[in-house]
Amino acid sequence: MDIVPSETLSPPQCDDDACSCDSSEIDEQNHFFDVIQAFSTYIACSMKRVIKYEQDSRKMSSFGKTHFEQIFIDRIASLKQKIAINQEFLSFIIQPQLQTMDQSQFELASEWNASKVRSTLSQFMREWSSEGQDERNQYTPLFLSTLERYLPISETRQPSVLIPGCGLGRLCFDVAQRGYRVEGNEFSYFMLLGSSAVLNRLLVADNHKKDQPNITEGTDEQDTDDESTWTIYPFVSQFNNNTSFENQVRPVVIPDTHIDSFPPDWAMSMSAGEFCQVYDEQPSSFDCVIFHFFIDTAHDIAEYITTVSTTLKPGGIFMIYGPLLYHYGDMETEYSVDYTFDDVKHLLRTSHFELLDESVHQCTYCADPRSLMKTVYSAHFILAKKKI
Ligand SMILES: C[S@@+](CC[C@H](N)C(=O)[O-])C[C@H]1O[C@@H](n2cnc3c(N)ncnc32)[C@H](O)[C@@H]1O
Repeated sequence: MDIVPSETLSPPQCDDDACSCDSSEIDEQNHFFDVIQAFSTYIACSMKRVIKYEQDSRKMSSFGKTHFEQIFIDRIASLKQKIAINQEFLSFIIQPQLQTMDQSQFELASEWNASKVRSTLSQFMREWSSEGQDERNQYTPLFLSTLERYLPISETRQPSVLIPGCGLGRLCFDVAQRGYRVEGNEFSYFMLLGSSAVLNRLLVADNHKKDQPNITEGTDEQDTDDESTWTIYPFVSQFNNNTSFENQVRPVVIPDTHIDSFPPDWAMSMSAGEFCQVYDEQPSSFDCVIFHFFIDTAHDIAEYITTVSTTLKPGGIFMIYGPLLYHYGDMETEYSVDYTFDDVKHLLRTSHFELLDESVHQCTYCADPRSLMKTVYSAHFILAKKKI
């Protein structure tokens, strides 16, 4: 059973000379090609920064050289090796798609797409490594305890939970493991390809060696017998605020959990597409909707709230958690209605929601716990109920 449906990971193919695709389908195909190209050319894009590091290190003062010349030569070799290992993992993610594409046409990815690939590696650290556990503990217990209090599972009732903007799907997995029926939703191919690799292929790979990370002791080499865990280096391109070089190149093992197979009553799925477009058509479908670092991805939060109000059953629960760091706020070509949290609460009250609870939580997002710099958000948590 595929949790992320494979058909969502290939846009409509067009081999027809008399092409009848409309322009949005062609845009979609081009975008998909760009994403695969960005995964494939990660190594070349990342090496540009290493080359600068190398060139700059040659300009070191003679005092610096006395102590660090050889050390920097060794560091450069180490960075190149780690980036090459990251590339192996990224190529594994897109392996099924690569087979159908003309790779001879690949060029270096744009800086925007290259940065999305680097963020995907950080997102893997946040969601699917033991290093991300502390960050996940900032929110997962809150969601689970709220679900268990307001929507307990019984023999006759398995409540359904929708998690839009679910990233790589870890929260969906953790909620589904508690016995809820969960549907994740995403519109980013970077995230959909990543979640497909981990949920469809890694978690249930039957050759995993239990309790044993896939890194050969004393080396950085992938254990070739075991493709169910991968060692990646999510901080390797982070040259600022490092306490030590060892921290910059430290390995992280993906995933931090395995299951032998999904149990028969397991109920988790993923939909691909823009949240409002997908769920405006699905009235009264879910007992709960969780916005987890998602509300500020809206052009206009009022539209998201309208969609939640449609797709939630009467009496259903709506949880919002995160800051208001508007994704489109600084983009000149996009619009963004920049509401405050007070405004959000007003929108909820006037959309037939009753506010049940509210709290503030200090949290980080894809933070390197060992970095000299961290952004800490005062994430707002709002619990609301759709009036009957
Ligand atoms: C800030 S990330 C949060 C990811 C995850 N919930 C977490 O906390 O780690 C927001 C996610 O929402 C997705 N997203 C943004 N706008 C969306 C939309 N309108 N429909 C579906 N997904 C969207 C993005 O692709 C991104 O993965």
